[in-house]
Amino acid sequence: MKNDKKKLTLNEAIKNRWSPRTFSQEAVTSEMLELLFEAARQAPSSRNAQPWNYYYAEKTDGNAFQQLVDCLSEGNQVWAKHAQVLMVSVMKKKIDANNRPNGKALHDMGAANVSIAIQAAGMGLQVHQMGGFDKEKAAGLLQLDTENFEPVTVFAIGFPVNEAHFSEEEKKRKAQHLTRKEQKEFVFRMSDMLRSK
Ligand SMILES: Cc1cc2nc3c(=O)[nH]c(=O)nc-3n(C[C@H](O)[C@H](O)[C@H](O)COP(=O)(O)O)c2cc1C
Repeated sequence: MKNDKKKLTLNEAIKNRWSPRTFSQEAVTSEMLELLFEAARQAPSSRNAQPWNYYYAEKTDGNAFQQLVDCLSEGNQVWAKHAQVLMVSVMKKKIDANNRPNGKALHDMGAANVSIAIQAAGMGLQVHQMGGFDKEKAAGLLQLDTENFEPVTVFAIGFPVNEAHFSEEEKKRKAQHLTRKEQKEFVFRMSDMLRSK
């Protein structure tokens, strides 16, 4: 009998996603950005609250872009200022329907951010998220009502450079990306655990 079962493989975009520190000068088009935002839009969230907002500036925006660069830690500024787009992910802390704290807001913000990262990788782009930035400064810049909104990460977005042109530092970054825990370190089949009791 013909075996027409398709070999199961890891999704290519998940396989290819990583967080580079070097971006090419190739432009990120508005069509690409719209697809990244659509990826966030389609992410799951508790009560479908969709507690995510995104504020972005393109390098060509000049002042707005520079002001975002200024919010980053010095270590992040050095490389992230060369990205084509910088974007802040901002979580909405309260649920619209009842104005109560949304205990899953940070989780759901992360889910939307990963959705963006995977969509980006699927289009040949990469994003590099940063927690290293001045949250208060960013909240001020974005004129956020901090009772309800909190900046979570800043994204650097762009096309990665060809591996042949990697600096020694970028080679190390890629090697770090490849350093992964084994599944057995974080996956536990409960029936195996319970049997040994
Ligand atoms: C919430 C968050 C905060 C991060 N903050 C920084 C940061 O400030 N600077 C930086 O260079 N990388 C930062 N990273 C990138 C991580 O270092 C990176 O995702 C991790 O080393 C795994 O590498 P990979 O994304 O290439 O697989 C951050 C990632 C996340 C998800």
